[in-house]
Amino acid sequence: MDLIEAIKSRKSIRGYKETPVPKEILTEIMEIATRAPSSTNTQPWEFTVLGGTVLDDLKQTLQEQFLTGTETNPDFSVKAPTGVYRKRQVELGITLFQLMDIAREDKEKRNLWTLSMLRAFDAPNAIIINVDEEIYNDWAMFGLGSISQTIALVAVNFGLGTCIQRALIDYPDVVRQITGIPQSKKLAIGIAIGYPDWDFPANKLQSNREPLTNITTWHGF
Ligand SMILES: Cc1cc2nc3c(=O)[nH]c(=O)nc-3n(C[C@H](O)[C@H](O)[C@H](O)COP(=O)(O)O)c2cc1C
Repeated sequence: MDLIEAIKSRKSIRGYKETPVPKEILTEIMEIATRAPSSTNTQPWEFTVLGGTVLDDLKQTLQEQFLTGTETNPDFSVKAPTGVYRKRQVELGITLFQLMDIAREDKEKRNLWTLSMLRAFDAPNAIIINVDEEIYNDWAMFGLGSISQTIALVAVNFGLGTCIQRALIDYPDVVRQITGIPQSKKLAIGIAIGYPDWDFPANKLQSNREPLTNITTWHGF
């Protein structure tokens, strides 16, 4: 597949077919994606790949955490966006909820959406990206971003969709319990992966981007 076409067609997929992704394809995707750049080639990423009953179990337990009102406690600090960043976040939420027919005041439907997020949007597979505490620093996060996007792009080549998801690592202790990831590994991000259900309303979403002129200054031209 053409690289530019893959970059332009990648989008977050929030509705999937049930068909599991063959292990060989997931392996190939991750193998190719590890060509992603990282600070001084430290390659700070490690993968925990989930499917079958283990992923079912995780989805169930994550939902229970939410339903019992357990506070989220991600391994990484979270700062709520403000200003223009908040504006972009709200814009995304409004468009997404319009597509999903979720009214702002409809708490029940909003909760159902959160539950679907905690089920990795019913994707048949998920990849958790971990980083060892020995290498963790802000530069490592840069590498974790680069591997995440590379996985998402390579997945497009295989007809797969992804959603990079913080929601999957919001309750890291539960993920550790089910997968045996040790305490010394920080859970950086989750990626839902599977074959897109193109009829699912949220998959029609084309998120906005700031025009280049608003975010770029040129010098010496
Ligand atoms: C670090 C990170 C965390 C994200 N977490 C979530 C999440 O928990 N739930 C979700 O629906 N989307 C999540 N997303 C997807 C973003 O909302 C999405 O990338 C953004 O709106 C741009 O849309 P696009 O991916 O379709 O281009 C996350 C993306 C990133 C990079």
